[in-house]
Amino acid sequence: MEGLLINITPSKDNRTMSNDHPLSISEPDSGELDRIWQRVVGRRSFLRGVGLAGAAAVPAAGVVGTGSAFAASSGPTSGDVAILRFLAAAEIIESDLWSQYAELGGVNGGNPAYMAALQNLDSDLPQYIADNTDDELSHAAFINAYLRAHGAEPVSLERFRRLAPSAATGAKHGTRLTSLKALDVDTSWYVRYRSGRNPDLGATFPQAVTIKHQPAIPLSDADTPPNTMISSPSVPPASSRAALRMQAIANTAGFHFAFIEQGGSSLYSTMALKCSSPEVLRIVVSIGGVETNHFSLWHDKAGNAVSQPLAGVTDPETGLHFPDLNASHSELLQTNLILPEPTQFLRGLPDCSVVRPTSDALAGARAAVHALTADRLFAGQSTEFFRFVMRLAQQADAAQRHVG
Ligand SMILES: [Fe+2]
Ligand SMILES: [Fe+2]
Repeated sequence: MEGLLINITPSKDNRTMSNDHPLSISEPDSGELDRIWQRVVGRRSFLRGVGLAGAAAVPAAGVVGTGSAFAASSGPTSGDVAILRFLAAAEIIESDLWSQYAELGGVNGGNPAYMAALQNLDSDLPQYIADNTDDELSHAAFINAYLRAHGAEPVSLERFRRLAPSAATGAKHGTRLTSLKALDVDTSWYVRYRSGRNPDLGATFPQAVTIKHQPAIPLSDADTPPNTMISSPSVPPASSRAALRMQAIANTAGFHFAFIEQGGSSLYSTMALKCSSPEVLRIVVSIGGVETNHFSLWHDKAGNAVSQPLAGVTDPETGLHFPDLNASHSELLQTNLILPEPTQFLRGLPDCSVVRPTSDALAGARAAVHALTADRLFAGQSTEFFRFVMRLAQQADAAQRHVG
């Protein structure tokens, strides 16, 4: 069962819940939620326009023995719970996709040719893939444990595992939540972070590389034999078809890694603005900082696919081409400009180097689901999956910050 608060018994200040009335989670309809919220907050105006999942100023449960400096008065509100439940889902999704990369190309990966091609982006890449995967698994497990510790329902997506894994050597058996077999990777983040214009203020950005319907993992041994010789540090045009295709697949992965993690950076920054409990805020900014750390790493590695000596790879199957982005001598494409360019931020004030976007419309929970769907990460998923994840997203986006 999904959803937010149901068994809310308001305490005397009409906002906080007693620890004697722990959260019970079930699937309310939005009308029922509205009625509950009206009962709890006793202010119709507060509810107006909030809609599904309501607002969020109500502590969800007392903090029990966290050892945190914030513990005494910082129980999560229902909005905090909604934020964390969506983030738990996002982290499970991240874990699923990163695990697929790790099986094939991580430091203990099982596909030597894929690992060799990834190492053309950086000799340490398999280690980074394994570590990023561990981080995502820890994020998902931690957030769900926190929810459980506070009487809220953790998130499971197990029932939505239905997508077939890669057939290539190294991929493990078992169905998946996500597909990395035919991605549309949005690479506009590359230009966005080199630009002094801010998407939250209306700026849009072109693709750095056009990656449509491309695999980011090897699909089968017939397509890319696992023992294909991959030359290093470049893969010349005269290389075997299998070597060129494997390098194009690894390059696609390189851009996809950064796409995922820049999305995480924006999502966590946006969710942080809605947190009420200092402890939940601490969780969100602390994990969010690591998402940004991941992005920074992958931003650097993606650039190696489009700079010398590796630039120029063309997939012989699909025609996907990774040009030398330094050839244009444009600062919007220059590969070593990996640190976020100062950009427009708050009107009337100087440019500032910041995570962007951080608006609900572009970087909220629903925006994140839309971006991952447009990435074709969920190709083949069920309607129920979309419904479930989008409902969590709506509830997280509806959370409102309340202090005092
Ligand atoms: Fe994460
Ligand atoms: Fe991440």
